[in-house]
Amino acid sequence: MNQRSTLKVNSLGHLEIGGCDAVELAKQFGTPLYVFDEAYIRKMMNTYTKSLAENYDGKGIVLYASKAFSCKAIYKIAKSEGIGVDVVSGGELYTALSAGFPADKIYMHGNNKTPEELEYAVQSGVGTIVVDSYLEADRLEKICGEKGVKQSVLIRINPGVEAHTHAYVQTATPDSKFGFSIANGTAEDITKYVLSKENIALKGFHCHIGSQIFEKQSFVLAADKMMNFIAAIKNSTGFEAEVLNIGGGFGIYYTDEDPKLTSKDYSDYLKALCDEIKAKAGELGLSRPFIALEPGRSIVGEAGITLYTAGAIKEIPGIKTYLAVDGGMFDNPRYALYQSRYTVVAAGDMNAPCTQKVTIAGKCCESGDIIAVDVPMPDVKSGDIIAVLSTGAYNYSMASNYNRNFIPQAILVNDGKAETIIKKQTYEDIVRNDVIPERLK
Ligand SMILES: Cc1ncc(COP(=O)(O)O)c(C=O)c1O
Repeated sequence: MNQRSTLKVNSLGHLEIGGCDAVELAKQFGTPLYVFDEAYIRKMMNTYTKSLAENYDGKGIVLYASKAFSCKAIYKIAKSEGIGVDVVSGGELYTALSAGFPADKIYMHGNNKTPEELEYAVQSGVGTIVVDSYLEADRLEKICGEKGVKQSVLIRINPGVEAHTHAYVQTATPDSKFGFSIANGTAEDITKYVLSKENIALKGFHCHIGSQIFEKQSFVLAADKMMNFIAAIKNSTGFEAEVLNIGGGFGIYYTDEDPKLTSKDYSDYLKALCDEIKAKAGELGLSRPFIALEPGRSIVGEAGITLYTAGAIKEIPGIKTYLAVDGGMFDNPRYALYQSRYTVVAAGDMNAPCTQKVTIAGKCCESGDIIAVDVPMPDVKSGDIIAVLSTGAYNYSMASNYNRNFIPQAILVNDGKAETIIKKQTYEDIVRNDVIPERLK
């Protein structure tokens, strides 16, 4: 639990978040339940904005990467904090716009945006579209020509820095489906192609080197390579990028294997990036570009917890103990997808010593439906409330109705108040789009 978090243990020995007792929240709203700490989210948004102001004279924008957690309320919070957002689909764009988010502060990503998504983005007045293929440049040129719009775009570049949690590797032959490689020359080729278009206005470049990164040098190296690329393009074409979008990827705490970063640590990531960009601009004789950042996980990840009710407990002697909860891969598929690790606690008995290791299993018909493996737990009984921490990012946004389970409700907590931001689904929602063809009736 870090300095930004409102997570604590209250006088009853219960987990508390945003001034609310987690056991009471579970009683009031039912489980599974996503709980989001509003103060945490605002603090993180603010940390990045302040750091940009301090280290780069505010010549930039923080874009919340809304793929991490998208719903109307989060766009309202982002708007009130004065930041922008990045969206990656028509659905995220629609959600942002329907929450009244200003279109000019939206950046649209995606390695294969559909023609409909591109058209929707252009006609909605989305500020910037990040181009990631020749096909997309052609489609945009046509759509913008028909609509009489000149659309600002960036090009997604692969700088050849592959970041891992605590390290980075430089790759000369990147095999990512995202972006165009500097190393093999395709980045320069697409730049010339986009510059030849009449209806799209190239403003600069974008890169994103990965996620859950703690190594400052990874970001610095990416900035260094991008600035060299900007200089090379200026030399070969005369075009000087005004905008450099450096992506997201700042890591968060899930378990004791991860560092616990302070707000100053996050601010320092930005400082290192800004210092590098300023130094390179001087060295290469470039103007300082307007910079954009796209943190997602680090804004909402640790702000979220998921509450479950313990169900069946199954001990397989000499092998393991399964504690099944009333959720699973349908609300959190991250263990099934990439063996992600989590901290799990008994929300109603926070001071009890851990006496066993249990594997938290979901209720789906799938052996891989696991939330966390071999986590230390006190003695827990069926009916107890189990909390999984750091579930704010890429949980709800990756949820599904697998086995026709409900995607859980989400609430926002702040100063002892809890408000629904996403309603619980109903059986009616589950069958809403089902159609029985006439001949089967
Ligand atoms: C283009 C882009 N920007 C930003 C992000 C956000 O990354 P994170 O949530 O790790 O900050 C992602 C994540 O995949 C991304 O692909």
